[in-house]
Amino acid sequence: MKVVVIQGPNLNMLGVREQHIYGPMKLEHIHAQMKDFATQNGVEIEFFQSNLEGEIVDRVQECYGDANGIIINPAAYTHTSIAIRDAIAAVNLPTIEVHISNIHRREEFRKINMIAPVCASSIVGFGPFGYHLAMIGVLQMMNEIQAAGEVQKTQQVK
Ligand code: DQA
Repeated sequence: MKVVVIQGPNLNMLGVREQHIYGPMKLEHIHAQMKDFATQNGVEIEFFQSNLEGEIVDRVQECYGDANGIIINPAAYTHTSIAIRDAIAAVNLPTIEVHISNIHRREEFRKINMIAPVCASSIVGFGPFGYHLAMIGVLQMMNEIQAAGEVQKTQQVK
């Protein structure tokens, strides 16, 4: 089974940008921890970061037929991107949205969320630990979907 982690604009600046909001941890460090967890659980994992909306749409689309689950932090595009939302809805995979900060406690414009309604779950305000929670969640969902598929197969055989 495979999880794809998609990171939106400016997340490549973690550890540098607004440390009072996002903390000191760099993206590579977050990804290293996620990779360890994936390995421990026998799951394949791929990482992608882009500052460009269309590239994020392309990467979500590439998950169709290739990945079993998506973890995405669309960053600022969360509040604006119907294109990313439509791509997530199109591929129809268990998708977990992560926000490092608590977007509900910040500026008014961050309360607008185009992405959450097409995600299975949203994790906000836990800092980088949110990505670990997302890994636990997506693995659980992927396992449930796989198990349901196996039950269906056995029922078809009978
Ligand atoms: C963010 C929250 C967004 O509002 C912001 O534009 C980001 C990061 C977060 O992880 O808290 O770039 O997605």
